[in-house]
Amino acid sequence: MAEELNKVSQGVATPRFSDRPVRSATGLMDKIVVLDFGGQYAHLIANRIRRLGVYSEIKDGDVPVDELRNYKGIILSGGPASVSAPDSVKCDPRLYELGVPVLGICYGHQLTAHTLGGEIDKGHVREYGSAVVKFSERKGIFEGVEESEDAWMSHFDQVVKAPEGFEVIASTQDCPIAGMANYEKNIFTVQFHPEVTHTPCGKLILENFVMLTGAKREWSIDSYIQNITAEIKEKVGSRKVFLLVSGGVDSTVAFLLIAKAIGQENVYGLYVDIGFMRLNETKQVEESLKKVGVSNLHVYDAGDEYFAALEGVYAPEKKREIIGDLFIDIQRKVSEKLNLNPEEWIIAQGTIYPDTIETGGTKHADTIKTHHNRVEKMQKLINEGKVIEPISQLYKDEVRLAGERLGLASEMVWRHPFPGPGLAVRCLCAEKEDYPENVGELEGRISEAVSSSKMASDLKVKILPIRSVGVQGDERTYAHPVCVYGNVNDWNGLGQLSTQLTNQFPEVNRVLLGLSPTDFSVLSTQNSYLTRERISLLQQADKIVMDFIVEAGIDRDIWQFPTVLLPVGVPSKAGLRGGEGESIVLRPVESEEAMTANFYQMEFDKLRELVKRLAGLHGVSGIFYDITNKPPGTIEWE
Ligand code: XMP
Repeated sequence: MAEELNKVSQGVATPRFSDRPVRSATGLMDKIVVLDFGGQYAHLIANRIRRLGVYSEIKDGDVPVDELRNYKGIILSGGPASVSAPDSVKCDPRLYELGVPVLGICYGHQLTAHTLGGEIDKGHVREYGSAVVKFSERKGIFEGVEESEDAWMSHFDQVVKAPEGFEVIASTQDCPIAGMANYEKNIFTVQFHPEVTHTPCGKLILENFVMLTGAKREWSIDSYIQNITAEIKEKVGSRKVFLLVSGGVDSTVAFLLIAKAIGQENVYGLYVDIGFMRLNETKQVEESLKKVGVSNLHVYDAGDEYFAALEGVYAPEKKREIIGDLFIDIQRKVSEKLNLNPEEWIIAQGTIYPDTIETGGTKHADTIKTHHNRVEKMQKLINEGKVIEPISQLYKDEVRLAGERLGLASEMVWRHPFPGPGLAVRCLCAEKEDYPENVGELEGRISEAVSSSKMASDLKVKILPIRSVGVQGDERTYAHPVCVYGNVNDWNGLGQLSTQLTNQFPEVNRVLLGLSPTDFSVLSTQNSYLTRERISLLQQADKIVMDFIVEAGIDRDIWQFPTVLLPVGVPSKAGLRGGEGESIVLRPVESEEAMTANFYQMEFDKLRELVKRLAGLHGVSGIFYDITNKPPGTIEWE
């Protein structure tokens, strides 16, 4: 991996799942440790192991071997650095001699090779997203996998020589050593990610690993609820809780857990309408929160303050910082107005794990995007022990499970997630036209790749004059989307093309299918930031989309459906009429826990109907469909 990509962010120490000793009915639980090298999925691995019923903890990648003696198995996570960089995090090499099974994933695979005498090199082709893995041996943790399996990749470097004692047991077209095993020592490593749902055989591989460790399966969401309510009770003491609520499943489950621990009468909810909510959302949120028992609810309308603070702001991270900071100022202002003595009150929020990890909140992780509940000011309050976050170690799927266990109605449990900064991160801003250097030449090379691909080779190509956030090889990217357009109705082929283009061209991190009009050869960008008019246009588009998917009966098939507004005009043959400088991107995805996602393949008849409805919106000239998976894109554009 290139030197400039080796930066290691200095976040706070890796959060622990719980500091309390975790007990089963028969004593302390058996546990498996995940060593965190800063991979976006380090915590997801722990989640998966817990979902298999074994308690799992995370420790920093470089902990001394003495801290690893009480575990039944050790998993080495991925990470953004290159193992050959002198400052990259290394594990204690003695862990390979402990006699417990070891599983190395991505960086963990490369690190194992590097530590035990193998060799690493940069991959000729970067692999992001789906790849086909061929297994030459299927035993140990690979028992029961098919000869050939789809697997999720996200890497630059690769192992080119396995260490002595290891057999190469898996390969992909671009990565000859995608898996290796030392059966004698029970050390297994893979370049791909078995922990993500997009590796269908991943669960089996992890399950085989758990079996091999002999760890007893005693962990469950019920034991989590039990442990965390005891923890909340202890931490809150005789104080009351001031909970920041949004009406989404996360803060609602946080409320239910706190209410279970200390009684709902001791929880005060603050809902801040930041002006970037969905159409009529505030009213609906008030109603649904009352239904679950938030009886002390204060609603604060901060729309004017937000639009004023964001005037003339363009960069995604700057927007996020302003939104997060203002949120804390408002929360402080409201609590002062309400006379809440900090000695008697403690703040709570429904942060879930991806918010932390994507903000670079673990020691070795890169910042992908700063979540509103993880800005510096909030981090300071957290470090001072002034905040409780009962679900901060859970993923969405676990939160939903906890919600079900706590009796939450299913329409709340399965509500699509909505980001804290709301439509602000779906309304892209631009100071001026922003094309990559040598855009014409780059478009030419991409066109050549498209023509020689297996996909409809007559698709045309256009790079958009704007950038969006992505995540590749555990790092943040901020690059251009490329639009392909023409006569096409094969989603699988488009998906393959999308993966091929983002793997092959580092200048682009997203691929769009141009839907309307039919010619995207000329685009224009205008100076745009967050205004009430633009948000109102996006609210209308979002409402059309959300109503449509319910009407079409596909709202449960789609995990989340951001509608994104771009300040990019697509002139029709008749030119660009006044006020039509905006475009809409449809971004429906399927996911389970938001760390990986694939674009949703909407039936083309349905899609045509949706486009027809959106095309009627005044001000919208272009409509695109995002065909990027995560990685290399993120679900949201900013
Ligand atoms: P990305 O865009 O990183 O998003 O793939 C993953 C999930 O997180 C949501 N998201 C947020 N949620 N505050 C939140 O509460 C935020 O600042 C934020 N940013 C992204 C996103 O909608 C998706 O479900």
